[in-house]
Amino acid sequence: MSFRTIEWRDNTVIMIDQTRLPAEEGYNVYTDFQGVAEAIRGMIIRGAPAIGVAAAMGIALGARDIIADTHESFFRQLENVCDVMARTRPTAVNLFWAIARMKRVAEAHRSQKLEAIRTVLKEEAIRVEEEDREICRAIGRNGGPLIPEGATILTHCNAGALATAGYGTALGVIRAAHEAGKKIKVIADETRPWLQGARLTAWELMKDEIPVTLISDNMAGWLMQKGEIDCCVVGADRIAANGDTANKIGTYSVAVLAKEHGIPFYVAAPVSTLDLSLDSGARIPIEERGSAEVTHIQGVGIAPEGVKVRNPAFDVTPARYVSAIITERGVARQDYCESLRKLVQG
Ligand code: MRU
Repeated sequence: MSFRTIEWRDNTVIMIDQTRLPAEEGYNVYTDFQGVAEAIRGMIIRGAPAIGVAAAMGIALGARDIIADTHESFFRQLENVCDVMARTRPTAVNLFWAIARMKRVAEAHRSQKLEAIRTVLKEEAIRVEEEDREICRAIGRNGGPLIPEGATILTHCNAGALATAGYGTALGVIRAAHEAGKKIKVIADETRPWLQGARLTAWELMKDEIPVTLISDNMAGWLMQKGEIDCCVVGADRIAANGDTANKIGTYSVAVLAKEHGIPFYVAAPVSTLDLSLDSGARIPIEERGSAEVTHIQGVGIAPEGVKVRNPAFDVTPARYVSAIITERGVARQDYCESLRKLVQG
């Protein structure tokens, strides 16, 4: 990979600024947890696993800066740092998974000196990042074989290196198939309103010289009807116990279209994206973002001023549309209640 999505360096957190891509490959340096929280909220970093890594690193920065005479005071302030992180974005469960992991590590070292607790939190955040890259490779190894030789694959949003610590989930599957020598092609949905497909997926696939063709979101059905799509692979922000999958708005439409045309629809995600505490997708919180993302494109107004707007950032694809869920521990298929539980229990 010729770029790093997020990195811990010299006690700072460095992120590629995804709001500036593809025009500019710029990197921002964060020195405190408030800055990291703002970066998650402002989509400088986005994509479920990448958000989890950022939260872990933000908590490590926060822990480093806490001024406390006692453990009680330290842990009270650490709780506040975690709360700030938890309020950034509601849908991707990886954020809450990472926060819970950092809290567990802090608790497990409660009997140690504060300096030691700060150090283990830093080490844990770095480990979350390193593990995520390994996990994406494993998702690629498990999912790559599902992609037929010569396939044209539709993907929605960006579930690539930019959405993870590197390599990607959906794009990890695609990269693995490409690296195995399969002559594949990718169709990238532009993904209005934020344009993750046009700005990010197209950018990172072109950098890797993986053939990619950009379409606007309303073109997918027509291409399927013409027989130009062989399978769909998307990422996920939260998967309920029954396999219902929250992912970027528009994923549901792609899944319904795929079923209508008999095209396999795969979800690729790490186990940390599974939320088995929710029995169905109906309980997944869906983020609503500001109206300007819909009324404007890259700062240019495209709608009459004052028009009413809805901007749900995610939708939920019912499990019956999902052909398989590809994780680092294996591939789950219907019945998801059973197959996902088995994956989680190892
Ligand atoms: O709003 P975003 O850009 O954070 O949404 C990202 C997605 O929906 C991705 O498909 C998902 O997080 C999976 S990333 C591997």
